[in-house]
This record gives sequence, C-alpha cells and structure tokens, in this order.
Amino acid sequence: MLESNTSHAMYVCICQQVTESQIRQLCRERGGKASASDLREQFGLGLECGKCSSHARSILREYQQSVHQPENYDPRLAIAV
Ligand code: FES
Repeated sequence: MLESNTSHAMYVCICQQVTESQIRQLCRERGGKASASDLREQFGLGLECGKCSSHARSILREYQQSVHQPENYDPRLAIAV
C-alpha cells in the first residue's frame, strides 16, 4: 500500500499564505487568548483583501471554546437556560 507523504495545508489567508495550523499554533502559544489583532500583527492576516477575517475569527473562537470546555463536556447533554 502506498502512503502519501504530502501534507495538505489549509490556507485561511491566500494573500499572506497563512494556514489554519499557523493560526492554531499561535493560539497555543498565547494560551488560547490570541485575537484578530494578534493575527494581523503576526501574519498580516486580513490586511489586503480581508476575505479571510471572518474565517480566521471563527478558528479563534473554536479554539477558545475547545480550551475552555471540560474534558468530558458533551454538548448533547447541555441544557438551554
Ligand atoms: S485572504 Fe487574507 S487578506 Fe486576502
């Protein structure tokens, strides 16, 4: 069986060539507290066409939610108040 040795980078910002894994890495380095302005400063993300900004913010939110939920959290068992 042949194994692929290529990794596929998921680009979030085409203009600055920023990948999703770079954004997640920055989140890890900042303890889950990376912000959109951190992404602008670090990578220049969003400074050209700006089409990536919404997706980048959703990655930040997703990461922050995953960091702040207990290990055994099951959203199916959550009760809406
Ligand atoms: S895609 Fe990020 S600035 Fe254009």
